[in-house]
Amino acid sequence: MSARARLAVLISGSGSNLQALIDDSQHAEAPFEIALVISNRADAFGLERARRAGIPTQTLSHRGFETRAAYDAALAEVLRAQAPDLIALAGFMRILTPELVQSWQGRMLNIHPSLLPSYRGLHTHARVLEAGEPWHGATVHFVTAELDSGPAILQARVPVLADDDPDRLAARVLAQEHRIYPLAARWFAEGRLVLGSDGRAWLDDRPLDAPVIIDASA
Ligand code: GRF
Repeated sequence: MSARARLAVLISGSGSNLQALIDDSQHAEAPFEIALVISNRADAFGLERARRAGIPTQTLSHRGFETRAAYDAALAEVLRAQAPDLIALAGFMRILTPELVQSWQGRMLNIHPSLLPSYRGLHTHARVLEAGEPWHGATVHFVTAELDSGPAILQARVPVLADDDPDRLAARVLAQEHRIYPLAARWFAEGRLVLGSDGRAWLDDRPLDAPVIIDASA
């Protein structure tokens, strides 16, 4: 890609990962820019973050749509009109229909707060503590139709500490999310990261048999 890649970021809440992407995109040499932020909630603080950065926003509430398919058709319309190079899900608390996911396959990333494939779904921090795991973390992955199951690209590993509670652990994981999401977005924008026809993530012309792992100290 010669011009900067255009991202659409989908959020539902605080948008701290969106902020990390905004901050990174503001570096002169950044290979991507954020063209649009979409939220399904009008009160998402991430919308305010986008406005402060002068990024166009759109709220598309799921209320008023009778089916998931109807909502996703409206969302697909918004996305088609904007034609981003990449969609980054950043705390977008909706399960997407396979139709929507398939039409953006290879051009949609998500960040999930666990070391996938472990701990898909919600409440990962509490579940990790309950299980007594020594490590936790976050994963950036390509989005495929099955929830939290697409090929993993990049992980940050965080040691679990003896006195952790879910909030403290979540905060340390979130700090690492803010490192790895912009990095993965850069790789994609630079054309270094693709979803191969073999269903694997490829980085620099090599298939990733396992995600790239960044170890974070406690
Ligand atoms: C993050 O933990 C992310 O991994 C998960 O949702 C949370 C979003 O946080 N998908 P924020 O809105 O980016 O602060």
